Amino acid sequence: MNEAKLSLLYSQERIAAEVARLAQEINRDYAGREILVVGILKGSFLFIADVVRQLTVPVTIDFMRLASYGTETQSSGIVELRKDIELPVQGKDLLIIEDIVDSGLTLDTLYTKLMLKNPRSLKICTLIEKSCHREGSTKPDYVGISMESGFIVGYGLDFNEHYRQLPDIYLLG
Ligand code: IMP
Ligand code: MG
Repeated sequence: MNEAKLSLLYSQERIAAEVARLAQEINRDYAGREILVVGILKGSFLFIADVVRQLTVPVTIDFMRLASYGTETQSSGIVELRKDIELPVQGKDLLIIEDIVDSGLTLDTLYTKLMLKNPRSLKICTLIEKSCHREGSTKPDYVGISMESGFIVGYGLDFNEHYRQLPDIYLLG
């Protein structure tokens, strides 16, 4: 793989501060209830691990995996389900944990699929929300960082499956 140019955008300290704030909001909003966390693989794996370790309410965890086709840095809007949720959803308070909302089409697909299973509630937490080209209609309830545009890697986010292991988030350019 050719060396790409990476510039530091969000440090691990900034990410940790956002994770702590989001977990605090979630703990407050779900006080007295149990959350079924639905982690969206693969990009969210570090974010999920960091958020759930700060939750003080009872939690169960499952995963889904979706893939959207497209060019390397632009999604096509065609979203394929690669792995469905396995735990029962009916009557549960679901919290989707996503890495990044870009067009929003992945989120629309997820929301529709999960609502068909009759959860008691369904909310969405995303580390990053891009505001540049939103098409979907589903809005995240908890947002870590809002950014305008650009393609980012690190802290779970990839470019051609690389850079997921980096502790900070970088702009690829
Ligand atoms: P959507 O366009 O909101 O459906 O997002 C589709 C998926 O594209 C996200 O879940 C990410 O996996 C990926 N994605 C979107 N923007 C970026 C980025 O800047 N870096 C890495 N992956 C991204
Ligand atoms: Mg993703």
